Amino acid sequence: MRQFIEGLPKAELHIHIEGTLEPEHCLELANRNGIALQHNTPEAIVRSYDFNDLPSFLSAYYSGMQVLLTEQDFYDLTCRYFQKAASEGVVYAEVFFDPQAHTSRGVDFETVISGIHRAQKDARQELGIESGLIMCFLRDMSAESAMEHLHMSLPYKHWIIGVGLDSDERDNPPSKFAEVFIEARKHGFRLTMHCDVNQQDSLLHIRECLDQIGVDRIDHGVNVLEDEELCLDLVHRGIGLTVCPVSNHYVVQSFTSDEIRSLISKGVKVTVNSDDPAYFRAYINENFQVLAEEGDFSQQEIVQLTKNAFDIAWLSDDVKAVYLKKLENYVASFSSSVVI
Ligand code: ADE
Ligand code: ZN
Repeated sequence: MRQFIEGLPKAELHIHIEGTLEPEHCLELANRNGIALQHNTPEAIVRSYDFNDLPSFLSAYYSGMQVLLTEQDFYDLTCRYFQKAASEGVVYAEVFFDPQAHTSRGVDFETVISGIHRAQKDARQELGIESGLIMCFLRDMSAESAMEHLHMSLPYKHWIIGVGLDSDERDNPPSKFAEVFIEARKHGFRLTMHCDVNQQDSLLHIRECLDQIGVDRIDHGVNVLEDEELCLDLVHRGIGLTVCPVSNHYVVQSFTSDEIRSLISKGVKVTVNSDDPAYFRAYINENFQVLAEEGDFSQQEIVQLTKNAFDIAWLSDDVKAVYLKKLENYVASFSSSVVI
């Protein structure tokens, strides 16, 4: 199974670029930028990670990204993610970034997006990996700040495929950002929002995503299984879920294999992703692997999850068909190469 997963051509749709900052790179950047850190070795940084819910993770995540200051820093960060992703068989990625987490520290929007965009261009040329960029708003900041950043992004809108919503969900429902997302839609952006696992109002937030925002996708969203009608609605509207097994494990002590299998059986387009791999210590293949082990998943189920990702990616039908064919060819050649 491990070999099968490693070779699968994959799409990753839920990956925060700031969540790919490895401890070694964090130390290198702190050194380059003359920033003092609390911990001085990669091991000490990893030991300091002690997450058991969303706020405890977010505190480490925002603290780590303080070392990102220049265009080159964002370029290097993004290049390293693409190198790792390409080595794991990712052929297409839709990458989140959190501009407010940088502008609030005095780093210009242009610095952030230019570095990320330059890395996307180089990754296409040098690694053959295609990607899209999704700008997330921080839901624990105001709707006014989100709107301001939406306007700030417009000169770069040809570099951005969609907008998302992340950070601390408690008391920050989708409806708080309804106007911002309506405006984003007018500018042609695709829409997604986090509905993290086991939040105070998970079901209400999923309902708002459908009825008030009209999202194209939901990030996480596994709690939808608790409401049959909501689940049917999701299937009916063809809205996919970008699920992150290892990230979920920190909150619910399970890789949510039962939930993922139920979602597949109900026809929900559920996908596997890594979320913040440098913090959760697992990139996409490890997410597939632990899921397959916990749920004793078949190769067919793994292929279904991979197909779903290309299906719900924000790509044209023609491009999707090319990726799906590549996937089909891989599965056929893997099966024929296995000696029974
Ligand atoms: N920011 C980075 N990762 C996140 C997640 N999984 N949920 C909410 N906000 C995030
Ligand atoms: Zn996330």
